[in-house]
Amino acid sequence: MNYSERSAEYRNVINEALADALVLKGTPKLLRDAMKYSVDAGGKRIRPCLTMGVCDMVNGNRRMAIKLACGIEMIHTYSLIHDDLPCMDDDDMRRGRPSNHKVFGEGQAVLAGDGLLTYAFEWMLEAGLNFNDPNYYRAVAEIAKRAGVSGMIAGQSADLMSENEGIKNEAELNYIHTRKTADMLIASVLAGAYCGNPTEEQLICLENYAQKIGLLFQIKDDILDAEGDFAVVGKTLGKDSAHNKLTFVSLYGLEKAKVLAESVAREAERKLLDAFGDKCQYLYDTIYYILNRSN
Ligand code: IPE
Ligand code: IPE
Ligand code: MG
Ligand code: MG
Ligand code: MG
Repeated sequence: MNYSERSAEYRNVINEALADALVLKGTPKLLRDAMKYSVDAGGKRIRPCLTMGVCDMVNGNRRMAIKLACGIEMIHTYSLIHDDLPCMDDDDMRRGRPSNHKVFGEGQAVLAGDGLLTYAFEWMLEAGLNFNDPNYYRAVAEIAKRAGVSGMIAGQSADLMSENEGIKNEAELNYIHTRKTADMLIASVLAGAYCGNPTEEQLICLENYAQKIGLLFQIKDDILDAEGDFAVVGKTLGKDSAHNKLTFVSLYGLEKAKVLAESVAREAERKLLDAFGDKCQYLYDTIYYILNRSN
């Protein structure tokens, strides 16, 4: 199977499991609809695909990977709903549809995000009782940490502070991108590894690789915001410069941002090949999928 066939297989598995997870019988219909609206809008599912890909690479327990992958996608989707709110990036379009708050109103959109975040942990932790494997809880703790106040939320806070009069230098840019974006990719990769029995060395190598593809992912996001095609990207573009955000494009310009993206891709490659050789085809292909993506 090539990269796109494997990704399609992973996406099918994940989408089916997400549909099961979000039946939410005891939840008020409006809230459930708002939560499902953004999850069902699709998205590339790159984070849960990585969890599945790493799990397969280490011959891990796929049933564990599916639970963790769905939890990660719920958390990611909540972060997008909140990121689009008028008090944050104020974006009207997401995943090719009107943003959650445009359809359900700001209050329900905040709650749909809260709902996905809380339910992700309910869903992952309840499943953990069946697995009875300490590595599963290590994965959930990793996800909590990377999504949390020293990870993605810290990055989102710094991203907002970077607007207008904020600090604008390379160290601050790396801080923001590592936390707001790379941390969730690191969590996705490490969660997949915990579905097997990873060595300390493997975990370090995978974290380094994921840090690089996370940075690459956000450099590419910054580039697409500046020159992407709205019909393909499916979200409002040109917002970074409108909000005077600190991004790779605002600090270095478009051409240098593209050169940096290439060099970060090479670094990710080196981190990976050193430790896994030819077993890592899917993770290797992911680097070039991110580098060349147009959405
Ligand atoms: C968008 O993430 C937010 C960032 C971290 C840049 P994605 O580009 O993965 O969004 P979806 O899930 O495909 O919609
Ligand atoms: C958002 O970064 C990262 C998140 C944690 C949601 P952006 O604000 O650049 O993401 P987009 O461009 O709106 O998808
Ligand atoms: Mg943002
Ligand atoms: Mg945004
Ligand atoms: Mg962006």
